[in-house]
This record gives sequence, C-alpha cells and structure tokens, in this order.
Amino acid sequence: MKRERNRKMIAVIHGPNLNLLGTREPAVYGTTTLREIDVAIVRLCTELGVAVTTEQHNGEGALIDAVQAAAARGAAIVINPGAYSHYSFALRDALSAAATPKVEAHLSNLHARDAFRKRSVVSAAVDGYVAGFGVQSYLLAVRAAVALLDRRKR
Ligand code: DQA
Repeated sequence: MKRERNRKMIAVIHGPNLNLLGTREPAVYGTTTLREIDVAIVRLCTELGVAVTTEQHNGEGALIDAVQAAAARGAAIVINPGAYSHYSFALRDALSAAATPKVEAHLSNLHARDAFRKRSVVSAAVDGYVAGFGVQSYLLAVRAAVALLDRRKR
C-alpha cells in the first residue's frame, strides 16, 4: 500500500467467525454482513479523511501477523478478536508490542452473555474498547482511533 505523507491510517481487523455475519446467530449478532460492515467503515473513514484497510482472519497467527503489519506501517488498530479475546495471550502480546493506537470492538455486550465472555485478556493491551452496539461498535471504535491519532499528532 502506498503511504501518503501524514495521512492518518486505520487497520480494521476482524477475527474468527466474523466472516459468517449475516447468518451467524442473528439473534445475537444481527443480520448485517461483514461486507456491509466494511462498507460502512470505509464510508465513515472517507468522511473523516482517514485511509483504512479491512481484513478478516480465522487463525490466531494470521491475526497476529495483521497486528504486526499494521503497527509497522503506523496504522491505528481497530480489532474485534472474536473468541480469541477470551484466551489468546499471544494476540494480547502482539497488541502490547504495537506502539500505535488500539481499540477493541465487539458487536455484542460481553457482560450480558456467557460467563466466559465477560473476560477479555486483550483489553489490557488496548487503549479502550467498545461493545454492545452492533455495527455501531465498529464505527465508534474508528472514531476513537482517529481521536487517538489526532491526539498523538499534537
Ligand atoms: C464477539 C464476541 C465474542 O465473544 C465472540 O466469540 C465473537 C464475537 C462480538 O463481536 O460480540 O466471535 O467478539
């Protein structure tokens, strides 16, 4: 990807099973597809004048590679680690090592669900998190990431 000088960049990284959105447990996650979410994210980033990439990976290693690559190019990270949120110390370490703004996003309210979802082991490695607002969680997370990038530039 060609890097425009001083252009703010955001990498949106979706974790496992989020490729199934639209048909996956619609009572929990709604019927919006991942493609539709990405379109909404790109539209918002265009409005905000921010460059954005979106990607989805089912594998833990691929997610770690994506975090490392985003950090290496200086992009802020918006990540929904899916179920890895609850137990991946490797992903948490990758986020801790990334010296860039980081926001965790979840479609559902983790605290209103199964007990095992109440704990995210990656949350301590990000600047903040948004959960429970469906597609809006991502859009709020993008706005937060842009605000963190702005704050850095001052
Ligand atoms: C999720 C919540 C996780 O517990 C779950 O494993 C997911 C989706 C969310 O966006 O609400 O895959 O991250």
